[in-house]
Parts: sequence; C-alpha cells; structure tokens
Amino acid sequence: MLLGAAVAGERPGAAAIASAHPLATEAGHEILARGGNAFDAAIAVTAAQGVVEPYGGGIGGGGFFLLHRAEDGHQTMLDGRETAPSAAHRDMYLDDDGAVIPGLSMDGPLSAGIPGMPAALVHLAEHYGRLPLADALAPAVRLAREGFPVDPVYRRMAAFRLEALNAYPEAARVLLEDGEVPAEGTIVRQPDLADTLERLGREGFDGFYRGELADRLVDGVREAGGIWTLEDLAAYRVVEREPVRGEYRGFRITAASPPSSGGVALVTILNQLAWYELADLDAATRVHLMVEAMRRAYRDRAEYLGDPDFVKMPLARLMGDDYAAGLRATIHPERATPSELLPVTLEPPPESEQTSHFSVLDAEGNRVAATVTINYPFGSGFMAPGTGVLLNDEMDDFSAKPGVPNVYGLVGAEANAIAPGKRMLSSMTPAFVEDDRRVAILGTPGGSRIITMVLLGALEFMDGGDAEDLVTRPRFHHQYLPDEIQFEEDAFDAATLESLEARGHTLAPQARRFGNMHAVVWDRESGEVSAASDPRGIGEAVVVGGR
Ligand code: DON
Repeated sequence: MLLGAAVAGERPGAAAIASAHPLATEAGHEILARGGNAFDAAIAVTAAQGVVEPYGGGIGGGGFFLLHRAEDGHQTMLDGRETAPSAAHRDMYLDDDGAVIPGLSMDGPLSAGIPGMPAALVHLAEHYGRLPLADALAPAVRLAREGFPVDPVYRRMAAFRLEALNAYPEAARVLLEDGEVPAEGTIVRQPDLADTLERLGREGFDGFYRGELADRLVDGVREAGGIWTLEDLAAYRVVEREPVRGEYRGFRITAASPPSSGGVALVTILNQLAWYELADLDAATRVHLMVEAMRRAYRDRAEYLGDPDFVKMPLARLMGDDYAAGLRATIHPERATPSELLPVTLEPPPESEQTSHFSVLDAEGNRVAATVTINYPFGSGFMAPGTGVLLNDEMDDFSAKPGVPNVYGLVGAEANAIAPGKRMLSSMTPAFVEDDRRVAILGTPGGSRIITMVLLGALEFMDGGDAEDLVTRPRFHHQYLPDEIQFEEDAFDAATLESLEARGHTLAPQARRFGNMHAVVWDRESGEVSAASDPRGIGEAVVVGGR
C-alpha cells in the first residue's frame, strides 16, 4: 500500500539494522524483537560488535551516536569520545630532541585515552532506551562467554597487529592462539569481558569507572607503563551535543559535531558544491570540483578543529554561505589548486584502518547512526589483566607535535594539541540526510576518508539512490595533504583520469577498496524501508516487519 505524502514523525512500520558484522546485526534484531527500541538495539549492536570485532570497537574505546527520537523529533549527538588522562601533556610522545617517538601513541597503554563507550551505553539506556541496560547487553554477554568463530577479517586485522598484541600477554592469551593468528573458525571466548559487561549492566557507570573493575584497569595500565589514575576514570563524562546541521538543495544534513570534524567538513564541502549544477557537468569536471571543495574543507579541519570544550572554533563562519562563496571563488574550473598554495598549511593527524559504523531505524521512527572505534585495529593491543577490556589507542588522533613545523615545513594543529581531559579530534561522521519524502541513516569507518565517503553516500542518496547504491558506490577522496586524489580503481574511466591529470591533479589509485558503510533508507512516501551493508566488508543488513 502506498502511503501518499507523509509528514515527519510518521511511523515507518518496519525496522532496519545494518552493521559491520552479522552477529552484531543479529544482537540488535534480538533486542528489537524483545520490545526494545532503536536505542536499546544500538546498545546491543555496539556491545556485540565490540565482542565479535575486537579489532574495530568495544567498551575500551569510544564513539559518537547520532540520535533521532520519533515522539518529539529531538535530535542529539551523544559524545562518548575518549579523553586524555590527567597526566597527559602535549609533548608526551616526543623524545628529548623533540622528535615524535614512533609507536608510542599507537601501541600499549600509554596510547589509550579514558574510554567513553561504557558511559555512552549507560546514558543511552537511562535516557533513551526502553529496556534495562542489562537486557540490552545480554546478547553481547552471551557472545563473549560462548564465543564466536574467527572470520577472514579478524585474521587479516590480527596479522596486521600481531606484534602489538603479542607485546601484552593478556591480549595475546585472549585474542590469539599461541601468539599466532587463530585459524578461521576458531572459537574466541572472552569470559572476563562477559563478566565486565554483566557488571556494567548491573552497576551502570560505577561498574566500569569506579570500584573493583576500575582498580583492575588502573593497576594493569600503570604496571605496563601507562598513566591512568582512578580519578581519570571516575571523572569521565559523556556529553550530549547539538549535532552539526546544514542544507543542500532542499535536503537537511545532520551529522557529528566537534570533537568530530566530520559534520563541519561535510557541510563545508556541500556548501561549496551547492553552487554548481553537478548533474549537468561532465564526470571529470564534477570530480575536479568535488576534490577542490574537499581540499579546502580538510585544510580548515587541520587548522581550526578540536575539542569544543578546549578550543574556540569559528564554526558559524566555517559553515556559513559567505565563507563557502569565498572558498569557491578560489576554485579554478580547469586547474587543480596545489595544496601548498592555500594559506596556512597544516597536516591532519594520521588515521588508520578499523572502526565500525551501524545504522538503526525502529518501527516507530527512532533512529541511530553510530560510529564507534578503538582507533587502530585491536586498538593499543593492550588488555588490562582480568578485565577483558582491550584498550584503545585514540591518543594518536591528537596532533603529537603541535606548533612545530613538520618535515615539509608545515605547522601542526594547535587546536588539536594534547591536554589533560581533552578529547582528540575525530573524523567519524554518523549522519542523517533527509527531505520531507525520504530519510537516510549512514556512516562508515575509514579514518580521514570517512568524511568524503559520507559525502559521496549523501550525494548518491540526494540523487535518488537507495541504501544499496549508497554503500556500493565507488569512492574517491582528497584530504588537502597529501595533495593527491585517492580513489578506488573502478571509480573513474580513462577519459576522466586523463582530464583530471591534465588539470594538474596527482592521481593515487588505491590497491584496496576502502570504507565499510552501513545505511538505512526510509521512503516515507512509498512506506519502504531498505538497509544495506557495504560489499567491501562482511556486514549484514536486516529489515524486519512492515507492510
Ligand atoms: O576518530 C577517528 O576519526 C579515528 N580514530 C577513526 C579511525 C578509523 O576510522 C579507522 N578506520 N578504518
């Protein structure tokens, strides 16, 4: 049955979940079936995903949850980003000569921020969910206790981080097999993590951030050379922040706000593009203009953005139409602008390989777009003994060397310098894109490339694409520095490549495809709900119920 013209807030009738792992999608599905809403399902997916993708997220990390509550249209971003411990300082990863010490912000407990994920899950259950936290965590507890089979992605990630994991006996004991990558199908059981999740369900915030578990975390971290204190854990606070909002040709964009750079950069790019009739242009010109808009937004990201509780950011200016007009005026229609010619050149912090996104819509119209992370695959590789909690290495998202020219003579980002209690700048961009007819819930992992992937997904949706189109679309990316267009090999035809090169762009085809997008689309007019998982990953999407 067609619904006819619908109004915002109407019920979709069907529910949908798309996540990076079939068992995480199943966990969310189970919780919806038990009467949970999208927010309960989000807790279940996050916790289960952390268990079955220990390389890509978990309660030792953090994330951003973009929420839409159907009953009153309330939208918010739950900021569960990690914070720097109180003993952290801006030069903590530099040697006596002021050089960055390789690995220190990436491996081991010194690279770990104070996790935000447990507090985010507690907050979600208390303020938005319908079920007790313990119920929403139950599928994850079961997966941790009974185990799950190792898949090819687990093997690839474990091989990549084998050295870091083997540096810490507890992580190696739980996640490897005699120090080696476990064979496909090996059952990984995490009984300590099951206990920790149960404790979180029982005791809430205090079950992780105070008392016995906190003692174990801090003891473990400090014995292995880390700097966490009990006070750091007890002081962690999740923050609800106003999401970034923008408009593009009649569509409303809602996305992660600082300390993520995602929404700001996304809106800055779209504001520049809104001036062009992209659909009428040849492919090479369209890509050229998009790349130039990306370049300019990433330059600003590197210079201005950081934790809003620590730095003043000119957000209204950066996302204003006048500013976009100014940027656009510097874009030459036929020539690439070398990044070195743009004033004030700063290099974005390095980012890497794993993280996880999921999208949920429930039958009432509640939505969650969440991107969660422990940063590098398997985070810091460090697991505090007796906790099952694999710690993140999110400290690497800070600029390790602010204010000091790098090897290319560029200055680092002061706005993203390390400070006690500060949140490191992120690129994670959970987003909603909608007009009065259709709604998309989307996001992806992929480090600095997250923002441009969400941009491409959003444009695809606004061109009429369905969930499948959003996640399958070939990808390209420019991030100011390095000054090159990174792209999947099938993204452009030969004529487009030739034309881009002729305009002065450096082409950097990528050996591997990138991203792992999971999207849900609700068409209010037809009543159809669709969900899709990126074919680049092993994720799974489900649509439940409906007309
Ligand atoms: O917060 C960030 O932007 C990064 N820590 C995300 C890392 C990531 O997406 C790695 N993914 N492939």
